[in-house]
Amino acid sequence: MNRKGIVLAGGSGTRLHPCTSSISKQLLPVFDKPMIYYPLSVLMLGGMREVLVISTPRDLPRFKELLGDGSAFGVEFTYAEQAKPEGLPQAFTIAEDFLSGAPSCLVLGDNLFYGARLGESIRAASQAMGATLFAYHVADVRAYGVIELDAAGHVLSLEEKPPQPRSGYAVPGIYFFDERASKFAASLKPSKRGETEILDLARCYLEDGCLRAEKFGRGTAWLDTGTAESLLDAASFVHAIQSRQGLMIACLEEIALHQGWLDAVSLEARAASLGKSSYGHYLRRLAEAASANP
Ligand code: G1P
Repeated sequence: MNRKGIVLAGGSGTRLHPCTSSISKQLLPVFDKPMIYYPLSVLMLGGMREVLVISTPRDLPRFKELLGDGSAFGVEFTYAEQAKPEGLPQAFTIAEDFLSGAPSCLVLGDNLFYGARLGESIRAASQAMGATLFAYHVADVRAYGVIELDAAGHVLSLEEKPPQPRSGYAVPGIYFFDERASKFAASLKPSKRGETEILDLARCYLEDGCLRAEKFGRGTAWLDTGTAESLLDAASFVHAIQSRQGLMIACLEEIALHQGWLDAVSLEARAASLGKSSYGHYLRRLAEAASANP
């Protein structure tokens, strides 16, 4: 059965107030496009065309306005409310009907990934059985879920924000689970911070002997957008790469074109609807190139 995507774009973004007092953090721009485009691009690179977007009752209408039914991007979006944030695993109980027995990939709406071999890693994880987590080396791992691996890459331990971490590797906000995720999620108890934890869900797979982990190497960027500084860093990163290469990061229509989900004609129409923005210009150039070399 095809793997389905879930983007969790809930939360109140308190560390970014007043920017997020009236709008979802995941709708804020990261340079030239809304933050949620970045995690969506990862799902699309992984070949996932059916995607559930979860957000708060306040913000969900804005996401619908931005993304629509997905046809503009050659995909299919479904929407669901998270009335009260009770932890990341709640995404799988909310998504139970949407998934209807399919394996899934959850990506957090404020996580930004970029790298040459990223699509390959995502597609490999998508084909794997059981569950897959990623591991990424960060300077200060204590703010994240921490994963410890042995020399062969087997998972030894998982700890959420430990004061004394056992490794320098954080678990980024992208998780692959098989069809049991909703059932396991429903059985979890809240942690000390009063929410269920994604690493407890991963531990269900570890205990079952079917949790794999893969390192994102040095050539992959995983950026956080939780604070004003990290948001600016992410925007600067995107700007630096894009202006040097003349190629966009997380242009959803471009990914759809490469996947064969959109053609030059629909790209042209989409470009027209975006007016004079740099994103619109980029789409127009893509559409011209695609119709010249179909
Ligand atoms: C969550 C997860 C944590 C993960 C992080 C990635 O943390 O609980 O394991 O490393 O996302 O962004 P939170 O954003 O809830 O602090």
